[in-house]
Amino acid sequence: MKKEIVNIMNDISSWLRYQKQLGVESISMGSELSSFLNHAVQSKASSQKLTSINEYKDEIPAETDLAGLRRIVENCKKCELYKKRRNTVFGEGPENAKMVLVGEAPGKEEDIQGRPFVGPSGKLLTDMLNAINIFRKDVFITSVIKCRPPCNRTPGHEEIAACFPFLRHQLRLINPPIILALGLVAAQILLNEKAPLKSLRGRFHQWDNARVMVIYHPAYLLRLKGSQQLDCKRVAWHDLQILEKEYDKYR
Ligand code: URA
Ligand code: SF4
Repeated sequence: MKKEIVNIMNDISSWLRYQKQLGVESISMGSELSSFLNHAVQSKASSQKLTSINEYKDEIPAETDLAGLRRIVENCKKCELYKKRRNTVFGEGPENAKMVLVGEAPGKEEDIQGRPFVGPSGKLLTDMLNAINIFRKDVFITSVIKCRPPCNRTPGHEEIAACFPFLRHQLRLINPPIILALGLVAAQILLNEKAPLKSLRGRFHQWDNARVMVIYHPAYLLRLKGSQQLDCKRVAWHDLQILEKEYDKYR
């Protein structure tokens, strides 16, 4: 079999494994899957191995501040996602925030408003934070990817490679003692790990100067049903309480 086809098959199988991890039991050939297949065919060189964090090319001048970085992102065309975006979603919050929250990528509402976590998962995220006495105005909220992937598909390896330097520069400028990784994409890129979320969540890891906590993405919690949803919400609540203890040190 040609190498490219093998690569595409590998991509499909890892996408299916990812969907399974999210609790999806069956897949129909809908628009999300066709969009993924198109993407897989276009990106021939996708690799199974995660690129080490230092290998992501950074062409951002070292002296760029947050306002300057925001302007660079607004004009960015480094990956295909610029074509269909309405707005880039840079992120928002104080420059000296003690915690940076990192999601996956903007969804529909975020793309419309140009602000992070303003749709249904944003509402749940706000409630989750408020439950541990943390308020949106005090933390910096952003995502790994700054433009909405069509049909909210999972961002591809090349898109992550293109966009990650912006997040890395944001994190270096803000230099928070705590990073909260929401879901698998943020966790895997920050921790340079291919492990499933289950094995990464609920404890602190290290990224540069920050302690990184991994929890379930609110969109994942919203997609679950019945007892599975209850179980995962319970787990998320447990993780939030560990987070609160750490955050209390910096209040
Ligand atoms: N999900 C994300 O990961 N980021 C957003 O900004 C919105 C939803
Ligand atoms: Fe640029 Fe990131 Fe948007 Fe791609 S997703 S165009 S890398 S800002």
